[in-house]
Order: sequence, then C-alpha cells, then structure tokens
Amino acid sequence: MRLDKYLSDMGAGTRSELKKDIKSGLVTVDGITVRDPGTQVTPDSLITYRGEAVGYEEYSYYMLNKPAGVISASEDLHETTVVDLITDQKRKDLFPVGRLDRDTEGLLIITNDGEMAHRLLSPRHHVDKTYYARVTGIVTADTVEAFASGLVLPDGLECLPADLKILGISNVSAEDISNSDSLSSQKYTDTEVRIREGKFHQIKRMFLATGHEVIYLKRLSMGPLTLDPSLEPGEYRRLTSDEIKELKSI
Ligand code: URA
Repeated sequence: MRLDKYLSDMGAGTRSELKKDIKSGLVTVDGITVRDPGTQVTPDSLITYRGEAVGYEEYSYYMLNKPAGVISASEDLHETTVVDLITDQKRKDLFPVGRLDRDTEGLLIITNDGEMAHRLLSPRHHVDKTYYARVTGIVTADTVEAFASGLVLPDGLECLPADLKILGISNVSAEDISNSDSLSSQKYTDTEVRIREGKFHQIKRMFLATGHEVIYLKRLSMGPLTLDPSLEPGEYRRLTSDEIKELKSI
C-alpha cells in the first residue's frame, strides 16, 4: 500500500499532513529517508515517523461503551456514528460488530476483522449477550418462566430460551419515562437478561410481548467479553490480547 495510507491507517495524522511530512523527510522506510508519499510499503516494512517506529496492525479491536443518541453504523452524512467516536484511528475500514438501537448503551465491539464479526454474529454460534434492562411494571415469576421456555412474539418469531433475572422493583415518576406533567408514579423493574440470538429490537419486543416497556437498555457482555466498568458512555479502549484470543476462539 501507499506510505501515506499506511501511516494514516495507523492514526499518525491526516493524509495531507502526512504527505507534507513525508516530503519534508520525516519518514524512513527500512532505514532510508523517503520523500514520495506514494512509496509502496508492506506490513513488514520498517517505518519510522519523526524518529518513532510505526508498526502496522492488520486488525484493530476496540471495546466501546456506546452512549445513547449515536447510531450503530460506520458512517452517516448527518448523524454521529459509533465509528466516529473512535478518534485515535483514521483507518477507513472499521465497523461495529452488530447493532445496538440508538437509545441503547453499552458494549459494542468495533473492528475491521470481518471474519471475527461474522463468527460473533452468526446465528449458528448462539453467542450469549447480556443486557441490563429497566422496564415498566412489575416483572413476575411468570414472565421469568415465559422467557426461559422460549417466547413466541405476536409476529410469530419464536425466541430461544432466555435467562431473565429480577434485580429489583422500585417506583419511577411518570416524568422520568415520558414528558408527561403528571406527578403520578408507577412501578418499574430492573432486570438482567441473557439471550443467545440478536434479532431486531429483540429485548424490547420480548418485554413488550409480556406487557412491559423497556425504558433503559444497556449491553453488559457479548460472548466472553464484558463491558469494562471504567468506561463511561462514549469512552473506548483497545481490546487486550487475551480478550482478542477469547473472541477468536468462539
Ligand atoms: N435488543 C433491543 O431491543 N435493542 C438493542 O439495542 C439490543 C437488543
């Protein structure tokens, strides 16, 4: 690939900055200063920029704590995407592994490794996903049982058995769940749900089918990967080599 692309993929700067710096002699390839940004290099080339080695990473892996209000896409003309939030990388081939709804928070893997993404998302692999869900009303043991035995949604979708744990029941004011001026309050239930598939709006539809509306949803884990509790919504970090190894073993 071109030298300027290699460096910008690795987050060293923008293509135009890098072109200038290469022409100014700030880059070496295999020990020799080169001044042509179009010089062809490979992942095995030894490249330095401003005196520092810049190794090539074929695949990049990030864990993002997706904030609400951001769409799960690589690029969009009008809206901020989850990939826009990965600011330390300029490579153009990053994408989210699956989708979370715009209002859902939590764990999202961002990578350019298509094979890994395919395995994690393939229905054949039944990768577990765990969510924290706050829902309207009081969730009862009957609902826990219905989730466990495999719900059939009104549109006919047969869900695989899912684990539903009730974490607590509290009051929420109507203002918290809508813009209503009403001062009345109603009960809500905090839950943890584990599903083995990932159909469109699955958690929201499962709760709706049992009479509950999801008012807050956050993904906590995907397969062996758990959301790092130190990441605030909108923050991200690179996956560790152990985490990558575990994901690859699926
Ligand atoms: N289920 C949903 O309903 N929404 C999500 O974003 C993820 C799972």
